[in-house]
Amino acid sequence: MANSNFQHFTSILLILFFISPTFSQQSFRPKALVLHVTKDGETTLQYTAQINQRTPLVPINLVVDLGGQFLWADCENQYTSSTYRPARCRSAQCSLAKSNSCGDCFSSPKPGCNNNTCGLLPDNTVTHTATSGELAEDVLSIQSTNGFNPGQTVAISRFSFSCAPTSLLKGLASGASGMAGLGRTKIALPSQLASAFSFDRKFAFCFSSSDGVVIFGDGPYGFAADVRSAPNVVYDSKSLTYTPLLINPVSTASAFSQGESSSEYFIGVKTIKIDSKVVSVNTSLLSIDSNGVGGTKISTVDPYTVLEASIYKAVTDAFAKASIARNITRVASFAPFEFCYSSDNLPATPLDAAVPTIELVLQNENVVWKMLDANSMVFINDEVLCLGFVNGGENPRTSIVIGGNQLEDNLLQFDLAENRLGFSNSLFARKTDCFRFNFTSTV
Ligand SMILES: *[C@@H]1O[C@H](CO)[C@@H](O)[C@H](O)[C@H]1NC(C)=O
Ligand SMILES: *[C@@H]1O[C@H](CO)[C@@H](O)[C@H](O)[C@H]1NC(C)=O
Ligand SMILES: *[C@@H]1O[C@H](CO)[C@@H](O)[C@H](O)[C@H]1NC(C)=O
Ligand SMILES: *[C@@H]1O[C@H](CO)[C@@H](O)[C@H](O)[C@H]1NC(C)=O
Repeated sequence: MANSNFQHFTSILLILFFISPTFSQQSFRPKALVLHVTKDGETTLQYTAQINQRTPLVPINLVVDLGGQFLWADCENQYTSSTYRPARCRSAQCSLAKSNSCGDCFSSPKPGCNNNTCGLLPDNTVTHTATSGELAEDVLSIQSTNGFNPGQTVAISRFSFSCAPTSLLKGLASGASGMAGLGRTKIALPSQLASAFSFDRKFAFCFSSSDGVVIFGDGPYGFAADVRSAPNVVYDSKSLTYTPLLINPVSTASAFSQGESSSEYFIGVKTIKIDSKVVSVNTSLLSIDSNGVGGTKISTVDPYTVLEASIYKAVTDAFAKASIARNITRVASFAPFEFCYSSDNLPATPLDAAVPTIELVLQNENVVWKMLDANSMVFINDEVLCLGFVNGGENPRTSIVIGGNQLEDNLLQFDLAENRLGFSNSLFARKTDCFRFNFTSTV
């Protein structure tokens, strides 16, 4: 009994100890943090961010996984750090990470292999492969921001992440050594960073086909105008449209324990319209059932929007019809896309609604996620553009997965405290782009 009281007492001390972050400069408390994102536009179409970790600090490239549960990194290949700490079984970090496994490693101790440590299930959400990995902590360093430029760099001395074997990197962009999970868990980057620096549990991202940005913390967020010497284009809560974030009660991870909810972000699409006409779909597919099947989620690891087979058919039929009405010439398909068009009789600018407009109507008729040409279409070459939606087959886990091409140049803000998503719709409407975040540091 005395012994168990003692353990209880030490775990309280540990909690106090672990939640107090170390700042690179004690007096400076950042209000927001920023990551520079680049798209691997050639092969994987993944978005990667560079982040500094370990002692001495090493820049590591991580694939940004919006719904990912935590940061996981390859610890097998060249992980050297004097500040690496495995999470001991039943420690505060293990419970914060909701780890319920505890294990030993039968080889010499090294990062990723220690005795009496708790484990997680790092998930490569691109290949849908999960393995087990040791939960650990190490130094993480990241640039602060005022929402317009990067500023001073700050460090967290004990940032929780999971180790993974090198083999889990298969399928990730070349040079990536793990994934940065931005999901709904307490140890995913948004919550861990917000609690380390006591700022709002909000984050935003804005990706483009080249550079992009993730900002942890509240806005306003600014982007340079595409017109020389025009003022920054500023987005704040007044310029965003909000929709509730929905919780899927059943985990969508590649491996999970029973009773876990999904760490991914779901929204409630009620109807789909093409050129203002409602597309008739089976509405029960649009809601999440008690088994966690159905609904609409947002994904940064799917390059294109994926629709359940019957929704795909209804949407593409309606799109094809609306294209005929607009006299747009259909041409041969271009895998993985079926509906491709000649750009000959289309106006050149991407903002113009040259092709039929696709609208996702959310909680009411006034809350609409609008997809104009640049988001609905994929530009194959100078002559051909294709509808950038793919067929997800029958009975997929999630009916609508809004993918990267449909997210680009749209600022999305996830407000975890209020459980809502704010979105800007295309930044082109205000003459800017997601690659225009100004990465010139102000320090
Ligand atoms: C874990 O403990 C076992 C048994 O005591 C030992 O053989 C092994 O080397 C230890 N492994 C590590 C990583 O310390
Ligand atoms: C609509 O979808 C639900 C869920 O997949 C299915 O059970 C039902 O049979 C479908 N209804 C029609 C009319 O296809
Ligand atoms: C499409 O072409 C037909 C015949 O040339 C023409 O009458 C019609 O106005 C055109 N529609 C649009 C939307 O351009
Ligand atoms: C980017 O920020 C720097 C530092 O504030 C400023 O000097 C520069 O003019 C900005 N660039 C653009 C394109 O706004």
